[in-house]
Amino acid sequence: MIKDEMATALNEQINKEMYSAYLYMSMSNQCANLGLKGFSTWFMAQYHEEMFHAMKFYEYVQRQGAEVDLQSIAAPPAEFSSPLDMFEKTLAHEQFVTQSINELMELAISHKDHATQIFLEWFVTEQVEEEETDNDILAQLRLVGENPHGLLMMDRELGGRGVTVPVDYTAGLSGGE
Ligand code: FEO
Repeated sequence: MIKDEMATALNEQINKEMYSAYLYMSMSNQCANLGLKGFSTWFMAQYHEEMFHAMKFYEYVQRQGAEVDLQSIAAPPAEFSSPLDMFEKTLAHEQFVTQSINELMELAISHKDHATQIFLEWFVTEQVEEEETDNDILAQLRLVGENPHGLLMMDRELGGRGVTVPVDYTAGLSGGE
């Protein structure tokens, strides 16, 4: 079992992950409107990753016998000035999520809650990967600058990103295995 304070913080993280999905869905839409279908695909894959993260927290709260408390999801920005703007905001958002995961870990440590610490380790590693990926894409975007040819080459490359997380949760995160 987990303490009420831990359950509240984990429920807040469900909301943050759902907002992340919503944010990347908005960016995906904006990229599609700009004719950047590869960028749009990349952000939609990211949307699915965030939904998977939300479902991991949801399932963990449930399995611990705590109350799932679903809160309203804030509306994300609808407009961004460029792909560079989107990835700058993506990195800033992921840094915020990393901070949030670190705070959850500190809370679990203070409660001597070993199960939650082990559960959160996956997210600690995931955040390193997410920030690294965003930094790499940002570096490329800064090199490309205003060059449309370079942007289209990046669009082609980013469009190759597939969805590697489950997207059907009817049987749980592992498909009922
Ligand atoms: Fe769920 Fe992008 O961190």
